[in-house]
Amino acid sequence: MTVHFIGAGPGAADLLTLRGRDLIAACPVCLYAGSLVPEAVLAHCPDGARIVNTAPMSLDQIMAETVAAEEAGQDVARLHSGDLSVWSAMGEQLRRLRALGIGYTVTPGVPSFAAAAAALGAELTLPGVAQSVVLTRTPGRASAMPPGETLAAFAATRSTLAVHLSIQNLGQVTRDLIPHYGPDCPVAVVWRASWPDQRIVRGVLADIEERVAGSMERTALILVGPALASEAFAESCLYAPDYDRRFRPQSADSVYRDSRE
Ligand SMILES: C[S@@+](CC[C@H](N)C(=O)[O-])C[C@H]1O[C@@H](n2cnc3c(N)ncnc32)[C@H](O)[C@@H]1O
Repeated sequence: MTVHFIGAGPGAADLLTLRGRDLIAACPVCLYAGSLVPEAVLAHCPDGARIVNTAPMSLDQIMAETVAAEEAGQDVARLHSGDLSVWSAMGEQLRRLRALGIGYTVTPGVPSFAAAAAALGAELTLPGVAQSVVLTRTPGRASAMPPGETLAAFAATRSTLAVHLSIQNLGQVTRDLIPHYGPDCPVAVVWRASWPDQRIVRGVLADIEERVAGSMERTALILVGPALASEAFAESCLYAPDYDRRFRPQSADSVYRDSRE
């Protein structure tokens, strides 16, 4: 028996990997984080599957479901929104499974920051403007931030920030960031990226709170950084006509001439 952790993607039912879909279809038990996993993804469950929304359950109750499936010899599809590597609570479940000697696999999903960038038609890493993306959040009721992981510390790099779980703190986010990025730094807030009712509000740090005006709650991402609105960036060397590289050697004596195999 195996528990298959599957990233269910940001919302649109067709932003699920083929591997994830096939695993869901093969598992007689499906445990899904109902607060964000779209119901349409559950259509891949086989007829008669036991489908359990874990949103109202404690970790102990979720593990009890898992142990019951193990005793019945039934594989479990465990669905979380987006990708599993960030804010999925997968880590604590894997630790329990290791202690119990229950096997698991992990299948990645499309993370919400990627869906939000796609909705904006934005590359978050532009040459000479930003070459790093920081996935972060602000403190919540259940989650303090470790010392040092402050918005100000990340902002000092002027990289692109993808601030999760923080739309309710939008005013504080802008106040923390303005000293580093300046009031004119571009911001985009993407609410329910890839869902049919997706909404986007663009602005700058100085006016984004007023533009959003409390109209979005919970499932929103705040993207901040010069890369969001820059047209003044260099083209990458990779596609420059005279750039010597493995897949496009520029001369007979290029070091890459015979290295394509
Ligand atoms: C518990 S975290 C889950 C993150 C998820 N594991 C991922 O890969 O994106 C929930 C937060 O992710 C962001 N989020 C998740 N889905 C989103 C979406 N479709 N559009 C915008 N933000 C989303 C929001 O900031 C939300 O508060």
